[in-house]
Amino acid sequence: YLTVNSPVRMSKKAQEAAGNDDDKICIGKYAMCDEATALKGVGAAYKAYDHGRGEWPQMKPAQRIECAMKFVEGMRSKREELISILMWEICKNSTDAAKEVDRTIDYIVDTVAELKKMENDTNPLMNVGGVVAQVKRAPLGIGLICGPYNYPLNEFMTLFLPCIIMGNTCVLKTPRTGGLCHIPLLEFYQSCFPKGVVNVVHGSGRTVFTPIMKSGKVQILAFIGTHKAAQSLHACAPVPFTVRLALGLDAKNPGIVTAQADLNVAATECTLGALSYCGQRCTAIKIIYVHKSVADEFVKKLVAKVDALKAGLPWEKGVNITPLPEEGKPKYLEEVIADAESKGAKAINRHAKQSDRTLVQPTVLYPCNSDMRCAKEEQFGPLVPIVPYESNEELEQYMIETHYGQQAAVFSTDSNTLPRLVDFLAHHVTRINLNAQCQRGPDVMPFSGRKVSASGTLSLHDALRTMSIRVAVATKAT
Ligand code: G3H
Repeated sequence: YLTVNSPVRMSKKAQEAAGNDDDKICIGKYAMCDEATALKGVGAAYKAYDHGRGEWPQMKPAQRIECAMKFVEGMRSKREELISILMWEICKNSTDAAKEVDRTIDYIVDTVAELKKMENDTNPLMNVGGVVAQVKRAPLGIGLICGPYNYPLNEFMTLFLPCIIMGNTCVLKTPRTGGLCHIPLLEFYQSCFPKGVVNVVHGSGRTVFTPIMKSGKVQILAFIGTHKAAQSLHACAPVPFTVRLALGLDAKNPGIVTAQADLNVAATECTLGALSYCGQRCTAIKIIYVHKSVADEFVKKLVAKVDALKAGLPWEKGVNITPLPEEGKPKYLEEVIADAESKGAKAINRHAKQSDRTLVQPTVLYPCNSDMRCAKEEQFGPLVPIVPYESNEELEQYMIETHYGQQAAVFSTDSNTLPRLVDFLAHHVTRINLNAQCQRGPDVMPFSGRKVSASGTLSLHDALRTMSIRVAVATKAT
């Protein structure tokens, strides 16, 4: 069994009143799978797919759509419960928790609409080069789906729904942190889809993932997490290249504040971009490069905005900074800050407020350089490293050297110099945000990355294609 504790900790007084030994608040408990159960899960998916002869891959898209809509109705009926779990388990504030649930419901409905559109568009008879062919989309087989703790519902569903609706069967591996929100949905995974089509497994990565990948039964690895985990999972497949990848991985999106930036806009967007949900978004701005000529002024404006953020519990009104779900994160952040300080950066707003156990106040580090851990590692937490730069060549060098390549946010009001920078960035990331923070949505946008940041593209449109393959039935033209 996994005992789930909330990142929200008991006050000393409540602890004494309850007679507890520690300050942890248990919010749930559920059974973890062992290796044999994990293999049973993938075995069931394999049987339900039955090499394409199963009921699910044989179903008409309209019938699969009906199942998905039943599932979405189920999710709607649990809206309040899901919001509450997201607040307690991963400490999303009430606005973001509600947004996650609603956005997920919308995503499913929009995926269905996209599939209908695709069905209407994609079956014209081809008559070319002496060949007449009908090209259609077919499922790939069995998908192994796993999402991250920071969007345990939404990102999970952006992988699950396209996978299933294209006729694949699947194994869903819930994240260890963030797994609780799938418990109220278990009844719908079961009742809305035919037997064996959706198989939910909870468990540690090593116990569950490795045997499933080694079984050789997986054709799609849809995973959001670290690139190291994705790489070792992929390598477990008997023939790795036969596994289609849909991966959302590490990112360290830069905010680039040029000498011609509107500093008020840049400070507002960088604060939001770096610290909404405490920086625990793959799309968060995780490093800021600022031109030396405006650096001091920008930092002053940014710090004022960071210090104005309200820290507290997820259900408190107007709260931005909430407790961190990852147990080792506060200590990790301390180490990264100490490393930067030992190399010449200052934690310039540390005086502002005190951190308390899992509730960690944001820290702005300045001036940073590329030798510091904060410039190299994905902190995924409330830490804002700022690196001053002097020339565009220096900036380009940073982008060339980094292992990451998801998005960038560029701040400039100069329409003469901006296109050159944007053109350069377009060879290093997959989305450039002009005078705005980085973000994944709206979901019609391609969501991808270069280098270790992603493999494949997710969006309403692309995900359906990623989870299927084009098959032609061709004959000679007469
Ligand atoms: O954590 C990664 C998510 O894809 C970020 O999504 O930009 O909508 O917060 P978001």
